[in-house]
Amino acid sequence: MDRIIDLRSDTVTMPTEEMLKAISSAKLGDDVFCEDPTVNQLEEKAATMLGKDAALLVPSGTMGNLVSILTHCERGTEILLGDKSHTFYYEAGGISAFGGIHSRQLKNLQDGTINIEDIKSAIRMDNVHFPKTSAITLENTHNLCNGSPLTSEYIRDVAQIARSNNMKLHIDGARIFNGAVALGVDVKDLVKDADSITFCLSKGLSAPIGSIICGSEEFIYHARRNRKALGGGMRQAGIIAASGIVALDKMIIKIQDDHNNAQLMAKGIDNIEGLSINQEQIKSNILYFNIKKGTNRSEDLTKQSKNQDLYPFDIILDNIYFLEISPNRFRLVTHNGITEEDVKKALYVIKGMVC
Ligand SMILES: Cc1ncc(COP(=O)(O)O)c(C=O)c1O
Repeated sequence: MDRIIDLRSDTVTMPTEEMLKAISSAKLGDDVFCEDPTVNQLEEKAATMLGKDAALLVPSGTMGNLVSILTHCERGTEILLGDKSHTFYYEAGGISAFGGIHSRQLKNLQDGTINIEDIKSAIRMDNVHFPKTSAITLENTHNLCNGSPLTSEYIRDVAQIARSNNMKLHIDGARIFNGAVALGVDVKDLVKDADSITFCLSKGLSAPIGSIICGSEEFIYHARRNRKALGGGMRQAGIIAASGIVALDKMIIKIQDDHNNAQLMAKGIDNIEGLSINQEQIKSNILYFNIKKGTNRSEDLTKQSKNQDLYPFDIILDNIYFLEISPNRFRLVTHNGITEEDVKKALYVIKGMVC
């Protein structure tokens, strides 16, 4: 059978040979005692690259966002976030379950931003009936909004509002390096106005495990305690950090290829009768497309969607894997390990989805 071309997510990326070598020779210590030299090296490197004072390794992006928000927000306060944000949709309600933090969802526009006036008017006045608005979170790039990158100018404007209302700004930057590459800016520019940022080593950067939180020394000091409370203190975590160092040194340069492949894919889909895509919205490695109204699904596709009333679910057509995220809407993600040739093969198969 042909190799599987897995376009469901960039989370399916495998560690590179160089990562596996680095893992097997990593110098280790107990990271809960801050004594793992490889973790310390990764955290210093990440903090420097993002222009922040300090950094903290966590097992996942979900824990990175949870630890950050728990650190910024007291119980019973309110956080503003987008109605299509990953933290709202896909993190199992952790901020309310574990932090007692009330979330207020504001409409995400197609480009992943939230209207500035909507943000201003959602901030609560001091009144005994209201929870205090303690923070806002932005997502960059924005997963559900076409992988859109948010610009540093937009982030600066939101940060100004946050600062002048005594609120914190957290960025869920699971794919912040995709954002920086898409906009052609230094990643530092994208996070300079934020109080904290989480980014993932395990998505476009291809490491097997791990995310990083960056912020001030004081913020990371408190975040470390919250990480411990959530069970995220990982002892000889240098085996994870070793691949993270390779990810930061070697993988950022490959992100442009993933974006080029997404463009190629988008162009190909646009040329398939019965499918629709807004090519202009695709700026990074995530793309969504639809089956046009009135177009029939192929027999293969109809069979797979039978009995599936829960979205998203996997679509498997020949050896091509991707996601149907809502009825007739599909997601494809390019990543390390997906070649131009794979994109062409996938397009050939996707063409058979409609008839
Ligand atoms: C935007 C965004 N934030 C956070 C996460 C969570 O990362 P993890 O899967 O490492 O928990 C994801 C995962 O896909 C994501 O897309």
